Amino acid sequence: MTISAFQLCGSLALAAVVYKFVHTVLPWLYVNIIGPKFFGPKLDIRRMGGWAVITGATDGIGKAYANALAKKGFNLVLISRSLPKLENVAKKIGEDFKVDTKIIDVDFTNGVDIYDKIKAGIEGLDIGVLVNNVGVSYPYPEYFLESYEQNPKFLQDIISVNIHSVTHMCALILPVMVNRKKGVIINVSSTAAVIPNPLLSVYSGSKAFVDKFSVDLQTEYRSKGITVQCVQPGFVATNMSKMKKTNAMTPSPDTYVAAALNILGYTTKTAAYLPHTFLQVALKAMNDIICEPFTTDFVFKQLLNIRKRALRNMKQNK
Ligand SMILES: NC(=O)c1ccc[n+]([C@@H]2O[C@H](COP(=O)([O-])OP(=O)(O)OC[C@H]3O[C@@H](n4cnc5c(N)ncnc54)[C@H](OP(=O)(O)O)[C@@H]3O)[C@@H](O)[C@H]2O)c1
Repeated sequence: MTISAFQLCGSLALAAVVYKFVHTVLPWLYVNIIGPKFFGPKLDIRRMGGWAVITGATDGIGKAYANALAKKGFNLVLISRSLPKLENVAKKIGEDFKVDTKIIDVDFTNGVDIYDKIKAGIEGLDIGVLVNNVGVSYPYPEYFLESYEQNPKFLQDIISVNIHSVTHMCALILPVMVNRKKGVIINVSSTAAVIPNPLLSVYSGSKAFVDKFSVDLQTEYRSKGITVQCVQPGFVATNMSKMKKTNAMTPSPDTYVAAALNILGYTTKTAAYLPHTFLQVALKAMNDIICEPFTTDFVFKQLLNIRKRALRNMKQNK
């Protein structure tokens, strides 16, 4: 029996589809859906140590991490800018979960000296978890040059808060973890790091740094017992997103953090919350199938509209 060229091509195409399914789709489904949903987190975070350190812990996603980790029994070091907010959050968590708390008030835009204060504050603690959550973004989408002309310090601050804090905090806490041969570092990036994000270029660039830094740090320290997880949220209902109402695409910080802790240990980079994972997949498919300029142009138009509305509101409120 002879096989026609047509049959041969068909068989090769089928083999390629099966190969792709087995090597890409199945692992993706396991890591993102099946594993976390049916088996829970791959890592027992509780075994990492007695203390968790969280930056930007007084609001939004950081506060949700503080509550979730206190619920698991961790004592907490809460780091943020405003002392009264820190005192309130620490008091409430202490009462709710009967754990110890320490607070450190620093402004991450205030240069490298603040890390001496943090170092003194965490001295001697058996830190098992570090959550590098603190982050700032633009008040509204804006062209790079215009935002620079309006406030050059602000763009510098984005870099200090979103990039320098992550590297300095890792430099402070990683030695403790390496000594004890265990630890979890959770770096909060953003979907902005992996999709087109014009008019927020410094913010998305800073988050792309967090992504890349996390992946390479994981490779360097995996054999030393350290797990690095980089989470890439889409919109979460917080002050930063200016979204108050939750819906399927915009979870509460608690919902988002529960999803992120549940997927711990499966993959280094993750959107963590399933609708955000699907959003990333959809945008990647648009990029690959339709073409990148179309996707970029689509997002650019949306952000231009948001910018226009923000400028109009600011003019009206003057
Ligand atoms: N919300 C979203 O839709 C979203 C999406 C993707 C990624 N993210 C990322 O998630 C992280 C948390 O965002 P969020 O939405 O939870 O923000 P948020 O609600 O605005 O909370 C920010 C936290 O960071 C602290 N903070 C801000 N600037 C600081 C500074 N200069 N020094 C010290 N602490 C400072 C705030 O403290 P004070 O209360 O003292 O000001 C607050 O505790 C960020 O890295 C952000 O980029 C958020």
